[in-house]
Amino acid sequence: MSHHFIEFDNVYFSYPGGHEALRGVSFRITHGEKVALLGLNGSGKSTILLHTNGLLLPTRGTVNVGGIPVTRRTAPEVRRSVGMVFQNPDDQLFMPTVEEDVAFGPLNMGLEIEEVRRRVADALQRVGAEDLKQRAPFQLSGGQKKAVALATVLSMEPDIMVMDEPTAELDLRARRRVADIISRFNHSCLIATHDMDLARELCPRAILVADGYVTADGPTPEIIKLFTSVI
Ligand SMILES: Nc1ncnc2c1ncn2[C@@H]1O[C@H](COP(=O)(O)OP(=O)(O)OP(=O)(O)O)[C@@H](O)[C@H]1O
Ligand SMILES: [Mg+2]
Repeated sequence: MSHHFIEFDNVYFSYPGGHEALRGVSFRITHGEKVALLGLNGSGKSTILLHTNGLLLPTRGTVNVGGIPVTRRTAPEVRRSVGMVFQNPDDQLFMPTVEEDVAFGPLNMGLEIEEVRRRVADALQRVGAEDLKQRAPFQLSGGQKKAVALATVLSMEPDIMVMDEPTAELDLRARRRVADIISRFNHSCLIATHDMDLARELCPRAILVADGYVTADGPTPEIIKLFTSVI
């Protein structure tokens, strides 16, 4: 993939059961941009993120990642470049040990075992979870799970990172680590967060979502001011 962009063009999405969660979402994130996705609970942030790698597909409109329209057919290819940290780490961790969870992606990519080992060690070290590698993911604390979930994405060395509440439940030290990881990531990054300090620190641009619409898009300090003035 040569251009790591994400483009939403007039995306509508209704969940089975009929709730219309997205109602004409359009934006474009270009290569290397770090963008915060802000909005109240239930505004549509997670729904937007789940469209960036084909876990959800638009009811109407299109999502394009690096020149590839996201469809059921292209989703596996798109997932190789878009690394997604889910809001709930239990949706992401399913192997018997932390080490196996972090190795799962690189093994699936067909990498040599030595390279897989290197990536697993590197990813666990970066999130400060080396000591957890033999533990069962489902027995970890909320913050530990969140750190390990991030490691499963880092080990795939994605071209684009999409993160849903990456600092929720993290203590100060873990939050600092995650902020450093994001700031060192050179490619595009879309981060849904309620952590306004994180958005301010890491993302020059923010997109504000309300009721399934993009209501504002621009420099983060301005968008935060607008957001806090309307609640
Ligand atoms: N699986 C689902 N089935 C039906 N409706 C859903 C489902 N998931 C989310 N919704 C609805 O879609 C809307 C958008 O939800 P979404 O999870 O995208 O919000 P969000 O902005 O991520 O909120 P939060 O800040 O609480 O994480 C909400 O009204 C929610 O109730
Ligand atoms: Mg959400």
